[in-house]
Parts: sequence; C-alpha cells; structure tokens
Amino acid sequence: MTEADKTPKASSPLAQAREEIKKLSSLLQLSSLINSTLNLELLLKRIMESASAILGAEASSILLIDPKTGDLVFDIATGEKQDQIKQIRVPMGQGIAGWVAQQGQSLLVADVSKDPRFFSKADEATKFVTKSIVAVPLKARGITIGVVEVLNRVGGGEFTQHDVELLESLAHQSAIAVENARLYQNLQDSFVATVRCLAAAIDAKDPYTAGHSSRVTEYAVLLGQELELSLEKVDEIRLSGLLHDVGKIGIPESILSKPGKLTDEEFEAMKRHPEVGANILYPIEPLRHLIPGIQRHHERFDGRGYPGGLKGEEIPLAGRIIGVADAFDAMTSNRVYRPRLSDEVALAELKKGAGMQFDGKVVDAFFSLYQKGKIHTVPAGL
Ligand SMILES: [Fe+2]
Ligand SMILES: [Fe+2]
Repeated sequence: MTEADKTPKASSPLAQAREEIKKLSSLLQLSSLINSTLNLELLLKRIMESASAILGAEASSILLIDPKTGDLVFDIATGEKQDQIKQIRVPMGQGIAGWVAQQGQSLLVADVSKDPRFFSKADEATKFVTKSIVAVPLKARGITIGVVEVLNRVGGGEFTQHDVELLESLAHQSAIAVENARLYQNLQDSFVATVRCLAAAIDAKDPYTAGHSSRVTEYAVLLGQELELSLEKVDEIRLSGLLHDVGKIGIPESILSKPGKLTDEEFEAMKRHPEVGANILYPIEPLRHLIPGIQRHHERFDGRGYPGGLKGEEIPLAGRIIGVADAFDAMTSNRVYRPRLSDEVALAELKKGAGMQFDGKVVDAFFSLYQKGKIHTVPAGL
C-alpha cells in the first residue's frame, strides 16, 4: 500500500468519519470548559471560536436578548469585523436572528439573497458579505435568551441539516453556561449588597462616622486601580474596605462616640477592633482572604502601628491601601470633637506621613487620583 492509499480522500467514508470524530472531540473539549469557568465573556468567545471551527464557518456570533428593550444585541462575534458588529442591535422579529429568537426555532438559509427575512444592516456596517446562515435559538429552561449563528461555509460549500444539529447541541450547552454565569453574577451582586448593608450597620453605631466604610472603600478601590492591581485584587480590596471596621461591632458605643479624649483603657479597647474583625471573619471561609486588609489597616509603614507592629512591605498591600484611605476619610470627616480638616490640610498630612505612617507609593497614587478629580470628600458643614 502506498502512502497515498493510506490517506483517505476528502469525500471517502473514512475521511468523513474522521471529520466527525474531530468535531465531536472539539465539542467534548468545549463541554469541559463550559463546566469549569464562570467568566461569561471568555466562555462565549471560546464557544464561538469552536462553532466556527467545527462547522467550518467564516464567522460566528452570539446575540443575547436585552431584557430592557427586547432587542437582540451582539454579545460575541468572531471574524474580522467583530468590533463593528458589536454596535448593532437587531429588533425582535426582524432579520434571520430576530425570526429565530421570536419563533424559538432553528433556521438554515443557504442563500440569504433569496430570503426576505435577511437583515442587511449588519453587512452594511461591516462590509461582510453574508451568503449563508445557520441560526439556532439559545434556550435556558425553555426560554429563548438569544441566538447563535454561523455565517458562510469556508470554501463556499453549503451548510447541512447535520450542521444545524451540531450547532443546536452547542447552543444548548452555551445556554446553560450563560445561565450559570448570570446566576453567579447575581449571587456576587447580592453578596456585595449584603456586605454593604453590614458596613452601613457598623457605621450607624456612630452617627459621626456615617458613610465612612463606603467612602474608604471608594478611595481604596480607586487606589487599587491606580496601582494597576488585578481585577481580583481590586474586588478583594472592595470587600475588605467595606468590612475594615467590622471589629467595631464589639466596642461599646460610649467609647465609639465619646466626644472627649479616650482614656488609655478606652483607647486599648478601640485598638482591638482590627483583631476582633479578623476573628469575626475567620470562620467564614469565603471571606477569609479579606483578613489581611482588615487586620492590618492600622499598621504603620515605620512599624509603630497596631496590632502587629509590622513594618514596610511586611504589611499586606490591602492593609497599606486601606490605611491611607481610612486616614484621609477620618481627617476629612467631621468628628464629635472637631470639624473636618480641609482637603489641602489632609493631603499635606498624608505627604508628611509618607514613608512613616503610610506607604509612599500609595500616597503618591492618592495624590495622582486627587489631581485627576477622582476623590470626592464630604462637603464642609455636613
Ligand atoms: Fe479602623
Ligand atoms: Fe476606619
């Protein structure tokens, strides 16, 4: 047998079988990805790349129904014109995708020029020439949430009913993924809302510090972004900021809102709040990673802070960031015993403390945010 004999011809049954196996294995790979990631954007992008590859299409896209308007919005598109296409909205019922979304049925259109439903606006905007389309509904628990479509078979061939079935199976898995990622996002949102409520409850113990935790969080998140920290780290800082004074829950209100100077004993009780906060969070596994920011927000860069007397970069970055945000808000808020300091005086205090109380790098980032007009303090007189 010659080498040429061993290689099946493109149309031979063996070649077709191999082609099928390739497609199925791509589908399987995709299934494991779908089950392992909650990053919706990344997931949809992979799904679309696989759809193009498996079906041999020039381009593909996912349109999701905008619940507010009912229009279909291009969420992910592959191919060269993906940026332009994302701006386009397809009204429900219009075009092939709109028809598929409204009817909840798949559609194979071999020649769009002969189909009056074809919505040419996307082609006009992108200069892409659509010849054929396979479009299938994206259904989650029986409800259509969008449409998946692939355009033009590479090499000018035709899509078949078999391609429709493949795309339907892919769409089914995609819909589950979209639902999971949305549920996860909702869960995250309600979790952050709950933490915000808790933070507001802590602040409410002392009317003079109302809004303190949310302002500290705002400054700390801006600092994290200014320092170009990862999205995950900024999320961590957001929650640590909201909860940084959670340990004050254990401090009597008579101490928290005392108008005069604290006695040594009262001050010692007050100084325990970062440790108390850490102890409160420790049993809650999903919040345990927030402990460093909370426990270390009163450490000082020169090692003279509390509770651990940690020095310089021994202090976790979240603690150094929240420390600056916390001090600035404390200075620019009215207290029982003094009116707020002006922004200028507070900024000068930060500068004076750089390298001593504060990490100089974080103070620099704060100045740059202030100069960009991103820091909004409590107006004087409130
Ligand atoms: Fe504190
Ligand atoms: Fe604080």
